[in-house]
Amino acid sequence: MSRKLLLTAIAATLANGAGAQPAPDPDKQAAALVKQMTPDERNLLLHGFFSRPNNINRLPQIGAPYAAGYTPGIARLGIPQLAETDASLGVAWINGRRARNATALPSSLALAATWDLKIAYAGSAAIAQDARASGLNVLLAGGVDLTREPRNGRNFEYLGEDPLLAGILAGETIQAIQDQHVMSTVKHYALNAQETQQSSIGVDISEAAARESDLLAFEIAIERGNPGAVMCAYNHFNGPFSCGSDFLLNKVLKKDWGYPGFVMSDWGANHATADALAGLDRESGEEFDSQIFFGAPLQALDGRDSAYTARITDMNQRILRSMIATHLFDDPPKVAAPDIARGEAAARAEAAAGTILLKNNGILPLLKTAKKIAVIGGYANIGVMSGGGSSQVAPQSGPALSIPTTFAADDWQAVILHPGSPVKAIAARAPAARVTFDTGAYPAFAAARAKDADVVIIFAVQWTTEGLDVPDLSLPNGQDDLIAAVTAANPHTIVVLETGGPVLMPWLNKTAAVLEAWYPGIKGADAIADILFGDVNPSGKLPITFPASLAQTPHPVLDGLFDYDGRMHVNYDVEGSDVGYRWFDRKGLTPLFPFGFGLSYTSFRYDDLQLRSEGNTIHASFTVTNTGNRAGRDTPQLYVTARGKTKGQRLIGWSNVDLAPGASIKVSVDADPRLLADWSTPRQRWQMPAGRYDVTVNASSAAPLLSGSTGLETRLLSP
Ligand code: BGC
Repeated sequence: MSRKLLLTAIAATLANGAGAQPAPDPDKQAAALVKQMTPDERNLLLHGFFSRPNNINRLPQIGAPYAAGYTPGIARLGIPQLAETDASLGVAWINGRRARNATALPSSLALAATWDLKIAYAGSAAIAQDARASGLNVLLAGGVDLTREPRNGRNFEYLGEDPLLAGILAGETIQAIQDQHVMSTVKHYALNAQETQQSSIGVDISEAAARESDLLAFEIAIERGNPGAVMCAYNHFNGPFSCGSDFLLNKVLKKDWGYPGFVMSDWGANHATADALAGLDRESGEEFDSQIFFGAPLQALDGRDSAYTARITDMNQRILRSMIATHLFDDPPKVAAPDIARGEAAARAEAAAGTILLKNNGILPLLKTAKKIAVIGGYANIGVMSGGGSSQVAPQSGPALSIPTTFAADDWQAVILHPGSPVKAIAARAPAARVTFDTGAYPAFAAARAKDADVVIIFAVQWTTEGLDVPDLSLPNGQDDLIAAVTAANPHTIVVLETGGPVLMPWLNKTAAVLEAWYPGIKGADAIADILFGDVNPSGKLPITFPASLAQTPHPVLDGLFDYDGRMHVNYDVEGSDVGYRWFDRKGLTPLFPFGFGLSYTSFRYDDLQLRSEGNTIHASFTVTNTGNRAGRDTPQLYVTARGKTKGQRLIGWSNVDLAPGASIKVSVDADPRLLADWSTPRQRWQMPAGRYDVTVNASSAAPLLSGSTGLETRLLSP
């Protein structure tokens, strides 16, 4: 039967009367399909392979597209293939094996720095359209592990340290992708917070701490975005591997959160056929596992062992219901020309909105009439930095520069620069200026160039990648010394950082201004110039704390960094759910730059905080006024600082406001009750303490500008 006929037949069976058009019910449709599967077909969707010619691939390529993951469809039942591509930043480019061009978005950390749902939606909708244009129907997106470890090589793929901010933004990106009829994952479930010994590390954390932090980020992302799949992580979680964790998969995800979709393993993260009983539904990239656990060994148990038989039915049901719910049956992708202009517009808006002005002595915005501008370092004559690993995107024409880091021809960890030269973008904005460039290789040459200029813009880059953490937070390749030499030669120096995460800034006091541009994506050069020259007023706010030293962080030493064979544990109960700024608040530490911080070319004032407790939540309203002389965007943040007898700071909401000079707006924010509560493990419920709740309205986690209190009764919320 053709796919169309089959779906019509299913729809007809489900119709409640002649001529009635039934509401699509993915669960019923999936159940009807599973019933028709032969014993062999019941095993086909449960394992997928890495669809690339490579030295570990043992499977025939059967005309599959070049993809990170592939599961053939079942033509007899009209079930489409799953063609899965990485990731959150666009359709991955690994040595150009992709059907069509695709947009490279800024890093997810840059997105988190926008705190903006519309921007999140626009970028993710664009990359999902790119995926369709390359014939791919699943994006392995939705990275939402919290930044517990500032050295984590994948921080750039995630959305920062706060569960509310990260969860809401991840949910929005997932929804945007799935609205284009491309299935999205959320990943890596859970607490995959470092790359060091990524696949063997044992993460230890109490249930309450996990539920209040990383699991909460997943919970919020899942309820907002309804991802078709959850990708379980490489690490052990309180004993078992994440992909074999009955607690994570069966209990928390499927039972407590009622998740109806399927769990796919990360590539190489399935360790046993019995993982199926723990809640794993699909083995991915099966060549990476020590054997194909969900192939023949699982099939052999179907019909012989009732627990496995029931699970195999459920696994198929979950996969199919997600495929139906995300429209993979009724709206398949077609290889076509992608709308790159749309993607690039989204990428540019995201990069500009995610760039953070960390310091400004008044030198910015730059006058377009500047006479002599020296640009130094950071490959700014070539392009902008991007992050390495499976999420790597590049345009179809290839990167502006690719420096291999291994001997492998298919070097998935190459250092890749996106095209778009910041020097050219700067020169285009200042036609009256003489713009010079120095690579920064020799500080003496750079200092001489700097001395001769009115203004110096020095680009500093930190490459990070999947598979590798950084050993410390310094800028690599002597760039700290370079900046020191340049600022000594000319105090009118602006530092533009393109980093994967936080870095230390021993030269900060000597600079005139500092911008954090992260990995700014395919339109990064233009976006940086937009900010430097004031065409865009900076509005980004830090989604992570920049520590003043590693000694301030919960884990000053990254165990196992230099020990490649060990099996190590990390005790995340040191900080528990107090990740990032909450740890700094708990310890009374002053970071280099606090979470939520970011300057503007204008200024804002907050007035008139009104708080009302309503049911399980706190409703806050206040007024924001643009007190400067430029239009600008502000992101006032609401924190709870005390709940009954419990002290401690937590973000409970925020708002983005765009204001003309002198204009005011009334803002309302409702707190998510889970941020007002603690997880009670004995009760298996969120519990809100009774008493007064102190709330502040802040310009950053360290800058409360308004405060008030309201009372709440003790309450239990369902899980
Ligand atoms: C990564 C995943 C990715 C997968 C497929 C793994 O190495 O951890 O994030 O989706 O590969 O490429």
